[in-house]
Amino acid sequence: MSDKYQPLLGKVALVTGAGGGIGKATVLNLAEAGADILMCDKKTDSLQGLADEVKKKGRKVEWTGTDMGVLEDVNKLVEKAKAGFAGVDILVNCAAVSPFFGPVLQADEKLWDKIMSVNLKGPFFLSLGIARLMIENKKPGNIINIASAGGMRPDPMLAVYAISKAGMIHMTRMLATELGAYGRRIRHPLQLHLALFHTHPLLPAHLGIPRDPGHGSQADTPGTHR
Ligand SMILES: NC(=O)c1ccc[n+]([C@@H]2O[C@H](COP(=O)([O-])OP(=O)(O)OC[C@H]3O[C@@H](n4cnc5c(N)ncnc54)[C@H](O)[C@@H]3O)[C@@H](O)[C@H]2O)c1
Repeated sequence: MSDKYQPLLGKVALVTGAGGGIGKATVLNLAEAGADILMCDKKTDSLQGLADEVKKKGRKVEWTGTDMGVLEDVNKLVEKAKAGFAGVDILVNCAAVSPFFGPVLQADEKLWDKIMSVNLKGPFFLSLGIARLMIENKKPGNIINIASAGGMRPDPMLAVYAISKAGMIHMTRMLATELGAYGRRIRHPLQLHLALFHTHPLLPAHLGIPRDPGHGSQADTPGTHR
């Protein structure tokens, strides 16, 4: 018998933005903890290598090229989660873009639409799709949204990105409020967590280690994870 501590054995985790620094670390930590992995990124070049690392840990893994800014791609991802894994226990919304560093007066509509679609709209509709699967499967789950300290305080030169992350923080509160109520009603509370990263990711604290379902699904207090 393995002496590894694997609290996520039998769980399935979906990680977006898996090709990036925090996404990759999240995938590897979740797999180490025993979770099977479905992962995606818009840029897929590094995903097969990452999948091989996950397989070496003895976990099932699938990956897909997904543009989180395109709703059709997001819906296909939900379908893949349903068909390939019969659902998801842990969703980590990690993919994001921050394509512009400069004065707010230079922001234009194209920049706004790009950032909001990838950082907010995509994660919102993916969360809904995965939450519906969790409810359908009558299984409790975790949705973890990687926000930013920029969403909590004014971050000069990153206005649109910071606004999108502020939106994600409130999205987390709203989903926790509504889905928590639904979850409690069916006795399978969905849990939502908010991870705020400043310069150093605090991954282990946010890897979906299940809490006591009896504690409902309040979003973590913003500001406690920086
Ligand atoms: N690194 C930090 O210091 C820091 C600070 C605050 C918040 N964050 C947040 O942490 C998360 C991960 O950051 P990171 O440092 O790993 O960034 P990263 O740029 O290394 O990774 C982001 C990943 O998202 C992917 N991506 C970009 N657009 C996409 C799209 N349209 N569809 C799907 N995937 C897409 C990229 O290809 C990349 O692999 C982000 O949400 C970011 O906002 C990071």
